[in-house]
Amino acid sequence: MTETAETAGPALLEMRGVNTHYGAVHILADVDLAIHPGELVCLLGGNASGKSTTLKTLLGMVKPTSGEVLLDGEVINDKPTSYRVARGVTMVPENRRLFKRLTVRENLQLGAYLRKDPGGVAEDLERVFELFPRVAERLHQKAGTLSGGEQQMVAIGRALMAQPRVLLMDEPSMGLAPALVQQNFELIQQIHEAGMTIFMVEQNANMALSVADRGWVLQTGRVVLDDTAENLLAHPDLRASYLGEV
Ligand SMILES: Nc1ncnc2c1ncn2[C@@H]1O[C@H](COP(=O)(O)OP(=O)(O)OP(=O)(O)O)[C@@H](O)[C@H]1O
Ligand SMILES: [Mg+2]
Repeated sequence: MTETAETAGPALLEMRGVNTHYGAVHILADVDLAIHPGELVCLLGGNASGKSTTLKTLLGMVKPTSGEVLLDGEVINDKPTSYRVARGVTMVPENRRLFKRLTVRENLQLGAYLRKDPGGVAEDLERVFELFPRVAERLHQKAGTLSGGEQQMVAIGRALMAQPRVLLMDEPSMGLAPALVQQNFELIQQIHEAGMTIFMVEQNANMALSVADRGWVLQTGRVVLDDTAENLLAHPDLRASYLGEV
């Protein structure tokens, strides 16, 4: 979906000139980004560059000190996280954060805790099983005993149970064995192709850009590159100069 992404209408989620602070410490500096319906886009950046803070700002867990956060074109700076979640903004947190002592089924059901349509919930559960047959085989297993790759599937499945309009993913490949990293991005691409809008934060630039439409590169809270995934992949010193890799 590179040129064909629907970028004409209002963005599903957007940040305009956003600044954030933790106490007196300035974290995000004049961040502009927009996620349009149907897109798979990524935010790249090294450690402590402000990636998780960006997600928390979109979800309302961190308030901007200036600038605007918009959902479907509406300024939502003062709206709580619950308002955003109710409108389909769903996060797959860093490290997956499953309830380790609960079963796989219970974890999945928790994703749907705000929903009042048991029939729809049951259908979506079936859809998650189709997407991840491995998860369906392990419904009664405690989530804490799953492998990293399986936990990732449950975390994505749980997020899908909330019927999101946009999935925010914080470093989905983190902690996965190298062999699973590729599989993880294939999974993300598969969900995207099924119609999901996805904004993922990643340190694995090559992998993220190989599936994404577009990306932004964050360096100490500032967007230093904003381009198509293709151009970012071809950028000669993306990794050395912007992501702090050697
Ligand atoms: N609650 C907080 N209070 C004070 N400083 C914080 C808080 N949360 C994050 N920070 C600081 O803000 C900066 C950006 O953090 P953030 O978690 O957004 O980075 P990140 O890009 O997600 O990093 P990583 O790749 O390590 O997850 C860091 O210097 C971090 O220490
Ligand atoms: Mg982070």
